Parts: sequence; C-alpha cells; structure tokens
Amino acid sequence: MKILKTTNLLKNHNDICLVPTMGALHDGHISLIHKAKETGLKIVVSIFVNKLQFNDEQDFINYPRDIEKDIKILNDLDVDFAFIPDEETIYPKSGFENLYSGNIGNKYEGSSRPGHFDGVLTIVNRLFQLIRPHTVIFGSKDIQQLFLIKKLILNKKYDIRIIEQNTKRTKTGLALSSRNKLLTKEGMKKAENIFKALLLVQNELEKSTDLIDIDNKAKSLLVSENIQLDYLEILDMNTFSPPKGDSKDFVIIIAVVIEGVRLIDNIRFKYEEIK
Ligand code: PAF
Repeated sequence: MKILKTTNLLKNHNDICLVPTMGALHDGHISLIHKAKETGLKIVVSIFVNKLQFNDEQDFINYPRDIEKDIKILNDLDVDFAFIPDEETIYPKSGFENLYSGNIGNKYEGSSRPGHFDGVLTIVNRLFQLIRPHTVIFGSKDIQQLFLIKKLILNKKYDIRIIEQNTKRTKTGLALSSRNKLLTKEGMKKAENIFKALLLVQNELEKSTDLIDIDNKAKSLLVSENIQLDYLEILDMNTFSPPKGDSKDFVIIIAVVIEGVRLIDNIRFKYEEIK
C-alpha cells in the first residue's frame, strides 16, 4: 500500500474506487473496503477529519483519531492507496469551492448541526475533483449524507458510480460508528435502544397509521432509558421529506445524545412491508 499526501500519483488512473473516511476505522469501514474490493478497481481510502463539517469545535477536537492503527488496518486489507492529505491540499489558501447543501441539508441532522452538510459536500466535492474516482462507496448509516451526495453527483453531472453499503451492527443492533469509541460500557448498552426504537416504529407501522401514537411509544422507550432524543422522523426515501400519499420507499431516521455523544441511525422499508 502506498501512503499519499497529494494526488499526483493518481493522475493517470481512471480506475479508482474511493472510500472516503475520517479515520478511526472500524468494522463498518472495513465492510466498505470489502465492497470496494468487489469492484476490481484500484482502491483509495482517504482519511481526513474534515473540520468544515463540525459545527462544534469541541466535537472536532474530541473526534477519535488513531492514524497508526488505521494505516495498519489498511495495510492488512491490502488497499492500493491511503490518501492522508494535510489541510492545505484539501483546502488551499488559493481557494476552493464551498458548497451549500440547500433546504434538505438544513433539516434533521442539518438543523441540529448547522453547516454540517455544507462541510460534507465541500469535502466530498474536493475529493471527487482531486481523485476523479470511477466509483465511490458510502455507508447507509449516514442516510441524509448519502441522499445529498447522490444529489451532488446528479447536479454536478459527475460520471461517478455510487455504491451503498448497508449499516454494520453489533449483535445487539447498535450501528457501528467511530463515535461509539467515546461511549462507556453503560453508554454502549444504552445505545442499543436506538435500533430498538427504530424497530418499534417499523413494527407499529404495520399495525397502525396513527403516527403520533407510534412516535410517542418510541419516545417513551427512549425516555425510560434516559436517552436524549433529538429527532425521530418517518420520511419518504426519494425526497427525504415527510411522506405523501404515493410514497413507497420509507426511511425512519433517528438522532440521540448519550453521554454527550451524538449518535444517528435509520432503517429503510418499502410500502408493501407496512401493509
Ligand atoms: O461519512 C464520513 O465519514 C464523512 O462525512 C465523509 C464522507 C468521509 C466526509 O468527511
């Protein structure tokens, strides 16, 4: 594996599969890399903790970092390139394009973390320009991010294939996340209720269309576990907005705070599944 600080060596490649990350690699990232390997393309894993997507300075400082371990993991997985740029390569003083994530980018996760998705789109766009990947892999745990990146690819008419990888979970359902490393054992246990709340909503939707009642049931589960809920929403997957009569693809999104750590998750299902 080659470790790169710039993309000079990648200039002549048009066969790159990019896996963008902010490091602190875990089994969820490893599954993204395995997915990347299935493409048969040259694999670039980028590691860059993107300050622009943190609206809270302390959150940026606290974000887990373990570059030595990350490099070892990538070496063991035999990826072709680890792209570990410095700030100036990504955001040169000479200027770069700042992107705006629009109406959807200001809702849900974006409403609690103002500017977060602008920062995500700005870095992803920079990575696309610098690396010019054939294919990119994103996990579906960050479902709003995925929605906005798909939109970015369409709006900018990038000739980039996007592959989604399903969320990896522990045996008890907790979605794998770099942020889990910031939780105590009790916090991890508490966090299992996030997926339980999502399943509860999905199961209740099979029986009833009383969304307020369903919402209350999920909320009381979280309250009884002393979990601070930020949002819990049922959305149309194709518009990332509240469902209309003709909606068929749904997503339930959730964000909570446990021990000061913000955790998100979601589940998707089709209309037929709630009939
Ligand atoms: O999902 C992430 O880890 C980050 O938002 C990403 C896509 C690497 C951009 O910094």
